Amino acid sequence: MIGLSAQQIEEIESKFGVPVYIFHSDEFVENYKELENTFQKIYPQYQICYSYKTNYTPTICRMVKQLGGYAEVVSDMEYELAKKLGYSAKKIVYNGPCKGKYLEAHLLENGINNVDRVEEAERICRFADENPDKNIKTGIRVNFDLDAGYTSRFGIDLNLLGELLLLFQTHHVTVNGLHCHMSRARGIEPWRLRAKTMLGLVERYHLYELEYISLGSGMFGKMDCELQVQFPCDIPDYTEYGNGVVGQFAEFYKDKEIKPTLFTEPGTTLISKYVDFLAKVEGIKTVRGREFVLLNCSFHNLGETCQMKNLPIRVFHQGGGLTSLTNARLVGYTCLEQDVLYRDFCGELSVGDYIEFGNVGGYSLVDKPPFIQPDCPMIAIKEGKQELIKRAETFEDIFKTFRWEI
Ligand SMILES: Cc1ncc(COP(=O)(O)O)c(C=O)c1O
Repeated sequence: MIGLSAQQIEEIESKFGVPVYIFHSDEFVENYKELENTFQKIYPQYQICYSYKTNYTPTICRMVKQLGGYAEVVSDMEYELAKKLGYSAKKIVYNGPCKGKYLEAHLLENGINNVDRVEEAERICRFADENPDKNIKTGIRVNFDLDAGYTSRFGIDLNLLGELLLLFQTHHVTVNGLHCHMSRARGIEPWRLRAKTMLGLVERYHLYELEYISLGSGMFGKMDCELQVQFPCDIPDYTEYGNGVVGQFAEFYKDKEIKPTLFTEPGTTLISKYVDFLAKVEGIKTVRGREFVLLNCSFHNLGETCQMKNLPIRVFHQGGGLTSLTNARLVGYTCLEQDVLYRDFCGELSVGDYIEFGNVGGYSLVDKPPFIQPDCPMIAIKEGKQELIKRAETFEDIFKTFRWEI
């Protein structure tokens, strides 16, 4: 976590209230540049495409654009956001299994697209047939096994790749890119294997004129030691990923005339550590020997990581009578038993204390349903200044889509 001082917390409480998301803007930029510089030093044609779904806060997406990052989107909603922020189609990567109505216009504007399934390929072929004077281009997302212990449902099975290439050729669609993305495989070995497999496909299918190869996302980002130790594998840093993964591209393309752009699509890697969440203790109780600490937020605020690991936390006492706790559960305001934000808390707390959670940037506010309560605000801290970047949701925000007269 980036962390707050007691004085900052006091200021945040009086200006914006708690709970609240806190985006640390300067540190985010530093991390972005470190990732980009490390990889570009090894393979200059490296390009970051920021994964909107991970955290589509417009302030963050705009910063990525200013830093030169592309937008990686998986729906028309996210596509619209990228366009609204001023992206040209050429810097938008349209991924995902269910593309909306913008796909065709995107292709006409030379946007980057990765086909996820055969029906989408057929849709593109029909479109190319209807527009014989246009050079329609697309990439293909491929699906292969990284030994991650599950079968991914995304992308084209490698056994179908040859057939698909032929289909596109028949319809005069240019295949300009190759894409893969596998979740739950963040370690260095699965990443080495991604690069090796993708380069193997280039050789096998003679794809020497590709404009880009995307390795998707799912690298570990930076994190505090207390989170790191909860993972069973080593956490590689950017240099290790660079040498093991990007290095393969530098080697493979060193004597080749056409060097494709190498994309990755970081979401978590870029944003996770740079959003903290501040909550407050509402109550403390013991039930049949189990201690529970109730917070004024829910597990939905913190994203999926808090269901698998204990996020880094810091406690700010407000001076009330402290209760000593052993293996307590920090729980949320919903009526769900699984609304647990932290397990096995040991220490002292009192009602009114603040708890700051770190590593909350990914799949948190974008994945917060309007379940029981609307969401809280988000602020950014930039050069020490606090600014509201998302107001709190209201009753009206939640209920305006319903028809009241029926
Ligand atoms: C195609 C694609 N790209 C990028 C991402 C972002 O991954 P992460 O948040 O792990 O960086 C995802 C996440 O599911 C994805 O499906």
